[in-house]
Amino acid sequence: MNSFEINKIVMAFLLTILVVFGISGLTEIVYEDHELESNAYPIEVKTAAAASDDDDEEEQGPTLASLLAVSSVDKGEKIFKKCKACHTVDNGGKNLVGPNLWNIVGRAKGSVEGFAYSSGMTAKGGDWSYEDLDAFLKKPKDFIDGTKMSFAGLKKTADRAATIAYLRSLSDAPMDLPAEAAETVDATEVDPATVD
Ligand code: HEC
Repeated sequence: MNSFEINKIVMAFLLTILVVFGISGLTEIVYEDHELESNAYPIEVKTAAAASDDDDEEEQGPTLASLLAVSSVDKGEKIFKKCKACHTVDNGGKNLVGPNLWNIVGRAKGSVEGFAYSSGMTAKGGDWSYEDLDAFLKKPKDFIDGTKMSFAGLKKTADRAATIAYLRSLSDAPMDLPAEAAETVDATEVDPATVD
C-alpha cells in the first residue's frame, strides 16, 4: 500500500463521515422545522379561532332563552325558506328529503313514522328541547353523528332563535318558552335591531 492509496482510503473515510453527518445534520434541521411547525401552528390557530369563535360572542350576547322571547315568528318563517326544499310544516304534511316538522318543538327526536332517519338520529334519544334544536341547527353534523340532514347550519344565534320561534308556532299547543325567558326578558336588554 503506497501513500497514495492510504490517502484515498482516508479520503473515502472522511467523505463517508461527511455524508453520514451531513445527512443526520439535515435530518435534524428537517426535524427541527417540523417540531417548530407542529408547536407553533396549533397554538396560533387556536388563539385565532378562540378570538373569533361564535361561542365567545354568545356568552357575552343575549341568551337563547331571552332571544326566543323576543324573536319574531315572521322572521323565522322567512329563514325557513332555506329548509322548505326538504321539510313540510303542516299538520300531517308528507315527508320530503327530511321529515315533516309539525309540532317538532318538544317532540321526541327522530319520531316521524315511516321516515328513515340516520342511525345517529335514532341513537341520540330525548325530545327536541330548545337547546338541542339550537345546537342542531347551528351545525347539524356536530350535533348528530352522521346525520342525513345536509345543511351547513345557521350561524347567527338570532337566526336560530327566530327559526325555533317559528317552529314552536307550528303546533296546536306550543311548548312553553324556557323559564329563563320569563325572568330575564327585559326589552331594554335585547336590542330588537339584532333580532328582527
Ligand atoms: C337538504 C335537505 C334538508 C334541509 C335544507 C334541511 N333539512 Fe332538516 N332534515 C333533513 C333530513 C334528511 C333530516 C333527518 C336527519 C337524520 O335522520 O339524521 C332532517 C331532520 C331535521 C330535524 C329533526 C326532525 C325529527 O323528526 O327529529 C329538524 C328539527 C330539522 N331537520 C330542521 C330543519 C330546519 C329548521 C332547516 C332549515 C334551517 C332544515 N332542517 C333544513 C333534511 C334537510
